[in-house]
Amino acid sequence: MAALFSALLVGDGSAWADPPPDRKRELIYQLRHDCGSCHGMTLKGGLGPSLLPTALVDRDKEYLQEVILSGVPGRPMPPWRFEISETEAAWLVRQLKEGVEDVQ
Ligand code: HEC
Repeated sequence: MAALFSALLVGDGSAWADPPPDRKRELIYQLRHDCGSCHGMTLKGGLGPSLLPTALVDRDKEYLQEVILSGVPGRPMPPWRFEISETEAAWLVRQLKEGVEDVQ
């Protein structure tokens, strides 16, 4: 149990484990297609704002995770918590902050 717990704490020091590789591929696909329909396939922005690292430098990871999970009330950004878990949202935010690369 202690070993499992410390395994979750390696990496960037957060307590989140990464989603498994297959799920990462699905999430990146979803990012380009579902999210891309508003934020642009290359995430440069469209109906929704740019999600490129330069556009997100001033944004907290917690804030971005919350927007993905809960959406923005009264704005077209929908909540995704029915499809995307907290762990997955945290992972997606890291991808967005670092620049999205397709998972092999
Ligand atoms: C129907 C259109 C639409 C879809 C689909 C959509 N978004 Fe958004 N998103 C928006 C809009 C519009 C905003 C700006 C909301 C506001 O006014 O604050 C936004 C805001 C955001 C923000 C906050 C950006 C910032 O700088 O504050 C993030 C992060 C985000 N979206 C991620 C996603 C992700 C990830 C997905 C897919 C899982 C997604 N969005 C799907 C329309 C959309």
